Amino acid sequence: MLNFEDEAIMPGARPGAGMMSPMLGLQSFSPALPAAPLAGMPGGREAHAALSQLAAPDERRVNAADKRIINGSTDVNQLVPFKYKWAWQKYLDSCANHWMPQEINMNRDIALWKDPKGLTEDERRVIKRNLGFFVTADSLAANNIVLGTYRHITAPECRQYLLRQAFEEAIHTHAYQYIVESLGLDEAEIFNAYHEVSSIRDKDEFLIPFIDTLTDPNFKTGTMENDQSLLKSLIVFSCLMEGLFFYVGFAQILALGRQNKMTGAAEQYQYILRDESMHCNFGIDLVNTIKMENPHLWTAEFREEIRALFRQAVDLEYKYAEDTMPRGVLGLNAPMFKGYLRYIANRRCQQIGIDPLFANEENPFPWMSEMIDLKKERNFFETRVIEYQTGGALNWE
Ligand SMILES: [Fe+2]
Ligand SMILES: [Fe+2]
Repeated sequence: MLNFEDEAIMPGARPGAGMMSPMLGLQSFSPALPAAPLAGMPGGREAHAALSQLAAPDERRVNAADKRIINGSTDVNQLVPFKYKWAWQKYLDSCANHWMPQEINMNRDIALWKDPKGLTEDERRVIKRNLGFFVTADSLAANNIVLGTYRHITAPECRQYLLRQAFEEAIHTHAYQYIVESLGLDEAEIFNAYHEVSSIRDKDEFLIPFIDTLTDPNFKTGTMENDQSLLKSLIVFSCLMEGLFFYVGFAQILALGRQNKMTGAAEQYQYILRDESMHCNFGIDLVNTIKMENPHLWTAEFREEIRALFRQAVDLEYKYAEDTMPRGVLGLNAPMFKGYLRYIANRRCQQIGIDPLFANEENPFPWMSEMIDLKKERNFFETRVIEYQTGGALNWE
């Protein structure tokens, strides 16, 4: 175990060896020994090459105008001066929205679930299929951020938001697990649903190649092809995963809550929906800023490719809607979602500057927009556990 007196040594590096990496922003000023390659660490090779060009210490100060979202060369450890203030503001807003799953009282949900007459079979199917998708979706999202996206983003204020987002994904996985545990559902069935239920598996299989691009340890930005791959993956992740694949599921559980059923789960989903809409908006700002800084990536061919992916995602999400609601339930039915998904897809296209895919689609669920604007103080379902304590209690005695 290390203690504070020990000198921290990177795996594979020799003490005293100099290192400078655009990914890590680290540097040492004693380049007497050649740096050993940093296995699996992006930037390790550049670190070695950069030794001969070490700048004077004051030349390492950051000028905001030099920062770039991708392929930047400013020190990623220097958060300020800010350039991307929207990213910092979203970080602050996300922290202000902090919540934890155990804040929410699940007693009414448990009683309703255990009552044989409490819910119809179709309602139970909706809940199980819904959790079957979400219990693993947010782990995929978290892995995508920490093992992928984070490494390729060279603006520290954006990285700061991604760190917060990664923690929120952990909270979401916790919330879904908490619901599964509260209701006493078969954990193996729910957590393995993304392998066993085809409508869930198909959505995840659509996402995997894009996650694989970002998390591949050999993938590096800096070429036209790779920068387009990165941009495509960011669009798929924010606009289609967080911005489309979550919305049938959110609408279903929130519709239950509006009918005074599963109000604890519905409240959890409300907080998650608020977080996800921020994730989606951050991703869209990220995409649009990368486009602005690298206009050559935004070719007509690339835009057509994105439109085709949007169409495919709408079809997959619609199949999921049909599978979860083979009959009408909760005043909802699968065909209503066709319009809703088209409406959302058009909105995402417009947000990233792509022509809408479908003509004149309107939102059949305007109440969903109110849910997104939830203020934490306004507790829609009024199920909060008031004795929950945030911040932990420190005892200095
Ligand atoms: Fe999430
Ligand atoms: Fe998310």
